[in-house]
Amino acid sequence: MHLIIVQNPEEISQLVSKTISSLVVKKPNAVLGLATGSSPIGTYNLLIKDYQNNKTDWSKVVTFNLDEYVGLDAHDPTSYHYFMNHHLFNHININKENIHIPSGIGNITENIKNYENLLENFGPVDLQLLGIGENGHIGFNEPGSTMDSKTRVVNLTASTITANKHFFDHESQVPTQAITMGIATILKANTIVLIASGSKKAPAIKALIHGKVDAQWPCSYLQNHENVIIIIDQEAAKLLEQPKTERKN
Ligand code: GLP
Repeated sequence: MHLIIVQNPEEISQLVSKTISSLVVKKPNAVLGLATGSSPIGTYNLLIKDYQNNKTDWSKVVTFNLDEYVGLDAHDPTSYHYFMNHHLFNHININKENIHIPSGIGNITENIKNYENLLENFGPVDLQLLGIGENGHIGFNEPGSTMDSKTRVVNLTASTITANKHFFDHESQVPTQAITMGIATILKANTIVLIASGSKKAPAIKALIHGKVDAQWPCSYLQNHENVIIIIDQEAAKLLEQPKTERKN
């Protein structure tokens, strides 16, 4: 695992957006794995700026999102479909047919099967962007998720529901289930870039880097992948034993 500790969330966004836009320039038909949550918003903002300023061409890029809430359709402002359109897709020249996000409505069993098949056909994902939950979840793979897990429906933990309630008017509106790519699905990506900022993420980052591989900390499965880049700020790094600081400007 390659660890990069920067000063603040803005530097994370700069580094990650540069990594993604360079990949898109180098490989116009790149397959990107994308994430939701607060963490990647700054990155998406900079990718939009890059598109506006440098005309980076997204027309052949294919994307797969990690997860979606069960029961929310694409028009629901709290769905991850809506999030991605609002924060990225509506502002770049991506071909809507190349966007893949698990559907949380309709025939869920069928949706899940189709999603894994699509990933199989288009994959491997060139670069998978990941945030991390306070409890160490990646995607929505909550504690207890197994290393061989595939795309599936999961029950969200109380702590995840509380952590994500700020996207909703009230905690009671947060869905209790989600569809998520599994751990095995995520680990198929060629490169994984995990980002985290703030002290609330520090215990999960410690488990990711210093812990043993443990289902109770699903992020720790990333130790089994050969090409993981972890980009975090100093607050998220504060529980690390010997923080190695590598600055990239
Ligand atoms: C949700 C998403 C995860 C994300 C996590 C952290 O649970 N399913 O993919 O990593 O939130 O979100 P935030 O970046 O808002 O802390």
